[in-house]
Amino acid sequence: MKISEQEKQELEELYHFFLTHEKTQKMKDVQMHRGSNTFLHSFKVAKLAIKRALRHKKVNLKAILVASILHDYYLYDWRTEKQYKAHHAQNHPFIAAENAKKDFGIDDEIMKIIQTHMWPFNIKRFPETKEARIVNFADNRIALKEALTSRAHKERHREKELKFIEKLF
Ligand SMILES: [Fe+2]
Ligand SMILES: [Fe+2]
Repeated sequence: MKISEQEKQELEELYHFFLTHEKTQKMKDVQMHRGSNTFLHSFKVAKLAIKRALRHKKVNLKAILVASILHDYYLYDWRTEKQYKAHHAQNHPFIAAENAKKDFGIDDEIMKIIQTHMWPFNIKRFPETKEARIVNFADNRIALKEALTSRAHKERHREKELKFIEKLF
């Protein structure tokens, strides 16, 4: 879909709002995928999701953007906090959605996208809307990439990656 300069600007501002928000900074302390963290991961997912979304006709870009930024907003480290360890994969989408609702007042559409982002791992939680499938796809793609690169590789590219997520477009 084609979007106007004005729409582009609005999305960029929304992205920036979350990028610099004091609450999202907490995601920087949550480690994942060998040397990555949920902050870096989530903004990479958001950029890919928006890029993909623009290939579709008529999708809710704002919902995709907010859901992808907050899809892993669970804010605990399952490696160290034992009570979360056993069912992290199944539970974190729901914890993230609840946290996001509490901290940012997200609506039901965005909550639903967050809750279904772990499909097919959570086989019963199929992403039912186009928006949810786009976020699900982007998350799977980025997670796989992160899982396949070493910690050392990530450290070498840290600066480049931080630069990469500075802007949505
Ligand atoms: Fe996740
Ligand atoms: Fe994720």
